[in-house]
Amino acid sequence: MDKKVTVVGAGNVGATAAQRLVEKALCDVVLVDIVEGVPQGKALDLTQAAAIEKHDAKIIGTNSYEETADSDVVIITAGIPRKPGMSRDDLISTNAGIMKNVTTQVAKYSPNAVLIIVSNPLDAMCHVAFETSGFPKNRVIGMAGVLDSARFRAFIAMELNVSIENTHAFVLGGHGDTMVPLPRYSTVSGIPITELISPERIDALVDRTANGGAEIVAFLKTGSAFYAPASSAVEMTKAILYDKKQILPCAAYLQGEYGINDLFIGVPVKLGKGGVEEIIEIKLTDDEMARLKKSAAAVEELKAVLAKLK
Ligand code: NAI
Ligand code: 2OP
Repeated sequence: MDKKVTVVGAGNVGATAAQRLVEKALCDVVLVDIVEGVPQGKALDLTQAAAIEKHDAKIIGTNSYEETADSDVVIITAGIPRKPGMSRDDLISTNAGIMKNVTTQVAKYSPNAVLIIVSNPLDAMCHVAFETSGFPKNRVIGMAGVLDSARFRAFIAMELNVSIENTHAFVLGGHGDTMVPLPRYSTVSGIPITELISPERIDALVDRTANGGAEIVAFLKTGSAFYAPASSAVEMTKAILYDKKQILPCAAYLQGEYGINDLFIGVPVKLGKGGVEEIIEIKLTDDEMARLKKSAAAVEELKAVLAKLK
């Protein structure tokens, strides 16, 4: 195929993303992991599945970066996931070291790639990748808002017993407890949910969305969600590879937008072949803006932790 994507981290999110990329025949995939044998084995397994899934996308697994050269997009999922009782922020020191190593290699072999960061704590890991790669801000993007919005959409569809395809939702802010689901901008076939669901029930859905990751960790016990996270990273990748100009909530580096400076945080962006081609500034009420600022303050705290790790 004429498009190439590297997925770093062949664990739950990475392997599932690789599977979706090739089975949708979006691109060839290079799957990289630090553990010997795992990316090779999963890539071979997926290659054999291609006969039945009927696609010609190629996938190789490797422990080194030479084969990743000249990737169009690199999805970074390398790191440790959280276990019950852990917050995303508990992962910061381990995952910052991993992100630094991985990004150094990725930037060396694919200097023109767009990076999609998945590892947690998400907004902080975007900072590490941005600083380490030296890439322009439009080519470093965090995956969180697409996932958090998908969760909100699932809960809206369940609440109203409507097709999830009719739902649309926006969740902004950092990928943590302070994320900001926006009911006013969340709709069913264009009708704002504020006209369809009671305020008390909306509060319950917002709360369930903000705790959506923890709900799944509590069920799985040994790791965190991966099917919807992989789908979310693939949606972003497709928008970039195929220059779709799709508007999606993603963690982007803000320099004055929403009154926030020098910080990665979730906002609506236009995704195309250049990565983040535009940051969309939607009107927020005072309360929504206050919640976005509170979320930004939580990301600032993580940035300060990163500075101490250096
Ligand atoms: P996992 O444990 O299944 O996979 C992680 C993989 O990274 C493992 O295979 C591991 O060997 C690999 N790895 C570790 N260090 C590496 C290195 N230096 N180079 C290459 N590979 C390396 O974890 P899972 O569930 O895939 O999650 C991955 C990360 O994504 C976690 O940090 C998790 O918290 C985060 N995550 C973020 C989401 C988001 O919305 N942004 C959603 C879901 C997960
Ligand atoms: C999630 O939201 C763990 O960040 C991951 O499921």
